[in-house]
Order: sequence, then C-alpha cells, then structure tokens
Amino acid sequence: MARYFFALWPDDTTRQQIANIVELLPEETGRRVALTNLHITLAFLGNVDESLIQGLCTGAATLHGQAFSLALDKMGWWKRPRVAWLAPTRTPAALSALVAEINGLAAGNHLPVDTRPYRPHLTIARKVSRFPGAVKIDPILWNISNFCLVESNTLETGAVYKVVDRWPLSSV
Ligand code: 2AM
Repeated sequence: MARYFFALWPDDTTRQQIANIVELLPEETGRRVALTNLHITLAFLGNVDESLIQGLCTGAATLHGQAFSLALDKMGWWKRPRVAWLAPTRTPAALSALVAEINGLAAGNHLPVDTRPYRPHLTIARKVSRFPGAVKIDPILWNISNFCLVESNTLETGAVYKVVDRWPLSSV
C-alpha cells in the first residue's frame, strides 16, 4: 500500500529559485531533498488503500479553493523531525481554507486527519542535526493556482513521489 499526501507542487521557476537556496546550504546540512521532490504538504494521509483513491480524486475536484500567492521568506529548522525548511511568515487565509477543506475530505473518507495547527513549510533537507535559528531570506514569491494528490513510495534510494492528479484553484 502506498502513502499519499495532498500538496502544493512548485512550478519550474519556483522550483529553481528554491534549488538556488538549497545549493547554498553547507555540505554538512543533512540530506538535501531532491530537486524534483520539493513540495509543501497540505495534508498527509499515510497509507491509503487503492480503492479509496478514485473517491478522493472525485472529492478533490469538488473543493472550492481559491488561488493565492505565497512568500517563502524564512528559512529554519525543527529539532525533533530534524528537517530544515523554507516557510512563509504569513499564512494566507486561502491556504488555511484549502487545508480545512482537504481535511474535511480526508475525514469524510475515514482517513486520519492531523489535528495539530497547520504549519506550512517546504522541507529542503532531512536528518539535519544542527542548523541556525530561523532567518529571513529574500522572499520567493510563488503564485499558486493548483493543488495535487501525490503518491509516495520509499525505495532504497529514498522517497519517490508521483503526482496522481492535480486540480485548479479559482482566481476571482
Ligand atoms: P515533512 O516535509 O515535514 O517531513 C511526505 O512524506 C510529506 O508528508 C512530507 O512533506 C512530510 O512533511 C509530510 N508529512 C506530514 N506528516 C507526516 C508523517 N506523519 N509521516 C510522513 N510524512 C509526513
């Protein structure tokens, strides 16, 4: 059974801007996330039986998310999960609303929902045992006009992500 999560998937330009920052990290900064794997998780679903995927996709297509832009303007580290990340200082209301809708969809499909407050972040390195505290960076401005469902499989070489489907967010 594969693991799944809903995510924001950077366009090529944004991905490259993030990669430029990742390249500046010192060699000893844990294990960098592969360029093609960079994303922001909206909701992590864990192992999901394949029979539920079609229903999740149908449900995702009926959500009423709005397009928004995100300024990734800080870089930091969480000690316990040992990840270094980029994050927005301000969480747009449209992002919180989208996460709430997706959590509702997951709960409606009897999937576990993370009850902790949502903290948007884009993991840039894992197994990081030491990192400076959060610092401001030149903001990466990311215009977000869709969200996606991603399948995650863990191979010996690391996680392999596949975008299963993608849905537009409406701009008003
Ligand atoms: P992270 O980047 O902070 O580790 C795929 O694993 C994605 O789902 C990652 O972005 C990861 O966040 C996120 N995620 C959230 N909760 C998770 C969990 N309990 N186990 C694995 N990944 C989780």
